[in-house]
Amino acid sequence: MKRIAILASGSGSNAEKIINYFENNESICVDLLLTNNPQAGIIERGRRLSIPTIIFDKKSFAKTDKIVEILKKQEIDWVILAGFLWLIPANLIKAYPNKIINIHPALLPKYGGKGMWGHFVHEAVHANKDTESGITIHYVNENYDEGEVIFQAKCEITEEDMPADIAAKVQVLEHKHFPEVIEKLILG
Ligand code: GRF
Repeated sequence: MKRIAILASGSGSNAEKIINYFENNESICVDLLLTNNPQAGIIERGRRLSIPTIIFDKKSFAKTDKIVEILKKQEIDWVILAGFLWLIPANLIKAYPNKIINIHPALLPKYGGKGMWGHFVHEAVHANKDTESGITIHYVNENYDEGEVIFQAKCEITEEDMPADIAAKVQVLEHKHFPEVIEKLILG
């Protein structure tokens, strides 16, 4: 059995899709949720879906081995970032080489980097009058949104699309592809 932990800072809709996708799966399970945000929607989802959820603070995440210790104790094999906003510290990357995956709501290398998340991304796509956007699933390294790309999917953007419309189109792609890409990656 391969065990997944999901890190999320917000609503957690992607996390819920992943949890549901792997429910009753014989070789992959979501074992743990972790969040930096005591207000995050992911906490309620974890409760509802009966997945243990850990809330941590900046110091224990960035300056100690506490999170790595929790993940190792739980025998976590893969770490999935689904709307997680903090930079991943070197000790975590070292503990999980090529086993930490992020999803970004744009076609990297466009619209990546610190501060480029959620509505900021879709507003920038809209302001630039791009005719397409999409999702990027990538390995995580020590810089925001710079790890090797694993998968991208695109959607068309029309002149009428406002940032919220772009967000909705991108979210459809996220929910459809993220669980499948994780499964393929883990099963090799
Ligand atoms: C998604 O758009 C994801 O690409 C980005 O943060 C958002 C998380 O949404 N990194 P949710 O919390 O899964 O609903």
